[in-house]
Amino acid sequence: MLRDPFGREITYVRISVTDRCDFRCVYCMAEHMTFLPKRELLTLEELVRLADVFIELGVRKIRLTGGEPLVRRNIMYLIEELGARVKAGRLDELTITTNGSQLPRYAAAIAQAGVRRINISLDTLDPAKFEAITRWGKFDRVMAGIEAAKAAGLSIKINMVALKGFNEDEFDRMIAWCGAEGFDLTLIETMPMGEVDVDRTDQYLPLSLVRARLEKRWTLTDIPDRTGGPARYVRIEETGRRLGFITPLSHNFCESCNRVRVTCTGTMYMCLGQEDKAELREALRASESNELVRQAILEGIARKPKGHDFVIDRRHRRPAVARHMSVTGG
Ligand code: 5AD
Ligand code: SF4
Repeated sequence: MLRDPFGREITYVRISVTDRCDFRCVYCMAEHMTFLPKRELLTLEELVRLADVFIELGVRKIRLTGGEPLVRRNIMYLIEELGARVKAGRLDELTITTNGSQLPRYAAAIAQAGVRRINISLDTLDPAKFEAITRWGKFDRVMAGIEAAKAAGLSIKINMVALKGFNEDEFDRMIAWCGAEGFDLTLIETMPMGEVDVDRTDQYLPLSLVRARLEKRWTLTDIPDRTGGPARYVRIEETGRRLGFITPLSHNFCESCNRVRVTCTGTMYMCLGQEDKAELREALRASESNELVRQAILEGIARKPKGHDFVIDRRHRRPAVARHMSVTGG
């Protein structure tokens, strides 16, 4: 029902419910960030309404991201509402991407609400390095969050951003740990989004290189699992778990893109790596009927670009996309 100009069906929406976060990961945020004033945000009720319009248009999967989605006040209301749509068969899946810090508090309720899988960001298993990369994160708390999620029966995928000179010596350890815990793992290349305090050209580690190194130690079998996103998956024969590689800087996944992103202010981005957007908030607020917002979504999808323009620009050292990842989620 939502089909873009290149014939791609849009069945997946990622909603960033807040641009705020309790961490300050060095590749993601500057230490001193200016966040949106709260009055700019869609209310949780408006987010539910927006989700329902997308569902009516054929969307089958929603992911909540941030920022850190679980720091938004009253977030369980939204998770429970959307979870009810999964239970009613109106959505196939509701997932969450989180840094894990609030999971000791929420994991059980999240599972109860109808969420079956979550992604947890964890770039290192070394507590000192963890505290350095997240600036404000507490390692033990995230570990407790991961344990709580496991105990609640949630399937867990760990997201690890591959950073040159920082965690490139830890992939084997992370693979072994995920194998022992029963988690899948995805490695992510750094993407040039938003001004941060570090130079991303120094951190960029091509995953083609990582994969070649891993193959010396592990048996990696390609598997066809595709999510419509930039991840490619292999099975690690020694652990039986999946390993994903997210290589956003190569263009080869755009042709199967099935998703759009919506920010907490109701701005729809048709591509993670492009600036073009469609404003949905005014359409949502202008009338009680959903017709205007439905039109605004359709008009946006009609402009969905063929692919992204990510390049880590070595000469100008400027991010390819001015907004931070925390605006649209990963
Ligand atoms: N490049 C790559 N990954 C990023 N993330 C946040 N900012 C960036 C970036 N610039 C990651 C987080 C999280 C996921 C949602 O995106 O670490 O795992
Ligand atoms: Fe927060 Fe995630 Fe960004 Fe880290 S990467 S600062 S956890 S939003």
